[in-house]
Amino acid sequence: MTYDFTFGLYKSSVNIEQDVPGLEAVLGAAESERALLVCDTNTAELAESARGAMAAAVCVVPAGEADKNWQSVEKILRAAAEAGLDRDGLFVAVGGGVVSDLCGFAASVYKRGAGLVIVSTTLLGMVDAALGGKTGFDLLGIKNFAGTFYPARHVYMPLAALSTLPPREWRSGLAEIIKTLVLDDSLYAAETRGRLLALKPALDGEGVSAPLIEAASRLIERSVTVKGRIAEKDPEERGGERALLNLGHTFAHALESAAGLGRLSHGESVAWGLARACVLGEELGCTPPERSEAIRAVLGELGYETQAPHPALADGGAFMRALKDDKKKIGGLFHFVVPALPGACLVTIDPDSLGLVEKLSGLL
Ligand code: GLY
Repeated sequence: MTYDFTFGLYKSSVNIEQDVPGLEAVLGAAESERALLVCDTNTAELAESARGAMAAAVCVVPAGEADKNWQSVEKILRAAAEAGLDRDGLFVAVGGGVVSDLCGFAASVYKRGAGLVIVSTTLLGMVDAALGGKTGFDLLGIKNFAGTFYPARHVYMPLAALSTLPPREWRSGLAEIIKTLVLDDSLYAAETRGRLLALKPALDGEGVSAPLIEAASRLIERSVTVKGRIAEKDPEERGGERALLNLGHTFAHALESAAGLGRLSHGESVAWGLARACVLGEELGCTPPERSEAIRAVLGELGYETQAPHPALADGGAFMRALKDDKKKIGGLFHFVVPALPGACLVTIDPDSLGLVEKLSGLL
């Protein structure tokens, strides 16, 4: 299945298919002749097999959020220079969100912008990071502090990669799917709920069957469509539209930072942040209680932590500091996206009212 999107000046196509594409096909589709494959220690084997007999350099960065830093970006830029890549060369990211964000950033600044293709190998990467052009790396202890908007020309989502995904990765990606499906109201349909619950064995480490992959592929298709259409309307998050994708993320980013970057998966934090956004939305009269309950119920059934305070939140002060540092703060006001009818809406909170957020996070 192929989906085409236009993000500002850039066209981006998404291919959801069975197998990891070979480098020859990737180069052919991008009309390029030379590539640098960028992967991490988890996807090095996949990248090697995609390369096959082709002559292309491979740059391996350390796996995990802890190394989503400038050093990894520099390693990629140096590898591209050593491989003699020109501006018409292609950076091919093979991996999850960390690899695609790092590689995307490197491609966006390399000789003022080289070609970029992402082969997304995790559920989180497929439904979020790979699509819509956000790139970046962590700096000063803040997630994605530095970055660019640079959509990949082609994004490949090989379902085969899901069969070896660890439960933690399933859990991380599924939370972003739930968030996205709140935005187009499809979460509340019985069919969607059935598909979400069908993924529970993967979350619990009980194996991945063909019907489970089928349910996952339907959810990926839906998430890609919803996220892609939202990002098309506001590719650089200048208006309010794309900011809706940050549903639950103000809480989530603060939790992720306070727990120590990399300790909780992004999705685990998003699930908790989404539950907190439901409660905040109810308090502010934006989220209908039945919607809040439906969202929190499905999160709970899938085993996500939804209660406050989060067990990983030993230091409430660190949480509030991270929340106050949020890069999405504008004009001194704090922005939260909460579920609404329809979809979700953006609410602003002035610094004097942050006590409510503190209370709903279980810190007062
Ligand atoms: N991850 C949210 C966005 O791409 O805008």
